Amino acid sequence: MPKIHVTTTINGDPTEFLCEPNQTLLDVLRDELNMTGSKEGCSTGDCGACTVTLDGRLVCSCLVLGAEAESREVETIEGMADGDALHPLQAKFLEHAALQCGICTPGILVAAKALLEQNDNPTETEVRYWLAGNLCRCTGYDKIIRAVLDTAAEMRGA
Ligand code: FES
Ligand code: FES
Repeated sequence: MPKIHVTTTINGDPTEFLCEPNQTLLDVLRDELNMTGSKEGCSTGDCGACTVTLDGRLVCSCLVLGAEAESREVETIEGMADGDALHPLQAKFLEHAALQCGICTPGILVAAKALLEQNDNPTETEVRYWLAGNLCRCTGYDKIIRAVLDTAAEMRGA
C-alpha cells in the first residue's frame, strides 16, 4: 500500500513525513520522527500516556491516524520546555516528586498544561476530573495533583 505524505506542524515546526494509511499518530511520532516523549500504555485510548494536542484539543495520539495530522497543529511533550528552561509544570513535578516510572508523566503534563491554559485557578476537584483520563500506576495521584495546583498558584503569582 502506498505511503501517505503528510505536511503538518509539530511544536511550531513545519514537519513532513510519510506514513502508512493505518499508522497512528503515536507511532508516527515515535517511530518515524524519533519523538519518543509520548508513551504507549494501552493503545486503546484508556490510559492517556500518549496524550498530545491537535489544533489545541487534547487527544490520545494512539487513536488518531498520522494522516489526520495533515495541515494541523500538533503539540507534544517535546515542545513543552523552552530550550533548557523547564515549563513551570515540569519543574513542579520534579519538586513534588510527582513521578516514579515516568510513563504517565508526558501525557499528564500535556493535559495539565491544557487545563492551566483555560483555567488558571482550578480547584482540586477540577484538576482530578481533568486528569481522570490519565492513569498512573505508581504515584497514587496526590503528588501529581499537588504539583498542578502549586504550578497554578505560582503562575498566578500567588
Ligand atoms: S496509549 Fe493511548 S490512551 Fe493509552
Ligand atoms: S509514574 Fe509510573 S505510571 Fe505514573
